[in-house]
Amino acid sequence: MNEKETKRWHLDNDSQNLQNHPSIIESAKLLRQGEVIAFPTETVYGLGANALDPIAIEQIFKAKGRPSDNPLIVHIANRDQLEELVQGISPVAERLIDAFWPGPLTLIFDKKGVVANNVTAGLNSVAIRMPNHSVALSLLLAADLPLAAPSANLSGKPSPTNAEHVWQDLKGKISGVLDGGATGLGLESTVLDLTTSVPTLYRPGGITQEEIESVIGPIHLDPALKVEKEKPKSPGMKYTHYAPSADLFLVRNRQDIPYHIEKAQKEGRRVGVLTVDEHSHDYGADVVISCGTNQNLKTVAQQLYGTLRRFDQEEVDVIFSETFLEEGLGKAIMNRLDKAAAKRYL
Ligand code: TXA
Ligand code: MG
Repeated sequence: MNEKETKRWHLDNDSQNLQNHPSIIESAKLLRQGEVIAFPTETVYGLGANALDPIAIEQIFKAKGRPSDNPLIVHIANRDQLEELVQGISPVAERLIDAFWPGPLTLIFDKKGVVANNVTAGLNSVAIRMPNHSVALSLLLAADLPLAAPSANLSGKPSPTNAEHVWQDLKGKISGVLDGGATGLGLESTVLDLTTSVPTLYRPGGITQEEIESVIGPIHLDPALKVEKEKPKSPGMKYTHYAPSADLFLVRNRQDIPYHIEKAQKEGRRVGVLTVDEHSHDYGADVVISCGTNQNLKTVAQQLYGTLRRFDQEEVDVIFSETFLEEGLGKAIMNRLDKAAAKRYL
């Protein structure tokens, strides 16, 4: 692909009247012309294009190197846009929207024909979310379009939690990046299918299963979240994801990590350890990085992807990572680590 000139606009998240900010106006105009623009959300940076224009959407798949059978999430700024895109909004959907939008919960509905077919990879359903971020919402309003936006990383790489990550992956391939600083949550939205008889969780994320169930009662977990051999229904779940270049192994019993470090170093490998503040002095590896504290898993969610990218910069050959308690946000953290490690546990 020919190199594009990629613009980079800096925005102050708290600036007043963002919708009339010159960089929002310029990027909204480019989106209306069918260009692809990266922007911050409260979860991770997204790579946006007009969800009604299949040619614009094609550019997203090209820039990311994303397989065309993996559908995209459509981002909206208000309820009117939802009604234009989906058929039938059930009482359960209404309750979830009232409780969690704008916010990190993506809901899957039966779609209307206006949504470009390549957004949904040919499926009859469409995933929608309303991001809770002033830059994202201002951009959506200024463009006056629903924007399909996957995470703004190269396919397979850790999702971007700041504009620099987007720059590293996509400079020269997209028309611009709106830099609104680091994202708050650091992990992607929860994905919940409302087209199944009981709502089905496909991807754990910023809104926990417990929070959802407190509003609508028990939900199903997609079998692919539990059983390794089950064929996943959400197409994005079958690809290697979030992976650093080094081999990543998850070590359930952290007392075993020193043994693995020593063994790998004897083989001449440069070794990294992914840990938490509480344990960061326990390991004699070449590179030891803490991604937060066990006392507050939000800190881990926030820094996980950036930490995986730092190991790449440190050029380690192998990473041994601690694991986290699979409760609340810990489920989303372990889901991403499990994928990044391609399910390799020691
Ligand atoms: O937090 C987020 O959701 C971020 C920000 C940018 O909004 N976006 C994001 O998009 O994570 P992406 O493309 O990286 O992940 C979308 C996930 C994939 O696992 C995809 O398979 C699933 O949503 N998905 C999208 N549409 C679907 C559909 N109609 N049926 C089932 N799964 C769907
Ligand atoms: Mg992604």
